[in-house]
Amino acid sequence: MKAGIFITGTDTEVGKTIVSAGLALCLRDRGIKVGVMKPVATGCYGAEERLISHDAAFLMEAAEGQFPPLHSPARFRNPLSPNVAAMLEKKEVNVDRILKSFRDLGKHYDYMIVEGIGGIMVPLKKDYYVANLIRDMKLPVIVVSHAGLGAINHALLTVDAAMIRGLEIKGIIFNRVAVSNYSLAELTNPKVIHDLSGVPILGSLPDIDDLQVESCSFGRLKDVFRERIQVDRILGDAFSKAVPKA
Ligand SMILES: Nc1ncnc2c1ncn2[C@@H]1O[C@H](COP(=O)(O)OP(=O)(O)OP(=O)(O)O)[C@@H](O)[C@H]1O
Ligand SMILES: [Mg+2]
Repeated sequence: MKAGIFITGTDTEVGKTIVSAGLALCLRDRGIKVGVMKPVATGCYGAEERLISHDAAFLMEAAEGQFPPLHSPARFRNPLSPNVAAMLEKKEVNVDRILKSFRDLGKHYDYMIVEGIGGIMVPLKKDYYVANLIRDMKLPVIVVSHAGLGAINHALLTVDAAMIRGLEIKGIIFNRVAVSNYSLAELTNPKVIHDLSGVPILGSLPDIDDLQVESCSFGRLKDVFRERIQVDRILGDAFSKAVPKA
């Protein structure tokens, strides 16, 4: 693995999976071997011994995941914070196993995209948060945020929590931003968040038709992501020579 990114968010349901998948689709298009990971997933379904994560399935479809247990090593049925789901299901979040899966996957791919769970301060187990996992994976971070009322507070809290813990923030991506009939908050918040945090804004995604994680439907995600998100800036120098497919 040459490089990678950890996709976190200001909240649950904010668009981490959509951003992770959009980036994976764009990188594949450039001929980059891209691996995806949803290291901890709750709200999974299916038979106990083969619980399925909607997020992991969607990401593996976007990136052609080939090693299902490695892409999603910790799965829980209850739609709860991982530490609570693990307790109820008499399991544990095995961080060593997650990190080993991450290293093993990294041998097969040039670029790894790792989707977090909830936000940066979600506890995975006692004294260990998503932020700890990001540090242990040694990955820079993208923060996915909404842009509406409340976004300044949510985004600045997330950026602060990341910076205090020494994480490198590549930038913020705003999701589900209206392209017409937008609110005053949506219009003004991205610049305010950039000015107050000093963190680059990598772009914003609108609502995209026929895009749904649960039904594994991508709509125009790849094209919209390529048009609106600064993919070169996310990649940095590591892949400057990658040639787009004809
Ligand atoms: N830009 C968009 N256009 C249309 N639908 C979207 C968009 N972004 C997200 N959604 C939908 O909103 C829901 C939540 O998005 P997503 O699953 O990416 O959030 P998340 O932050 O990954 O949530 P979780 O915390 O559960 O992992 C999904 O059903 C997804 O299909
Ligand atoms: Mg998700």
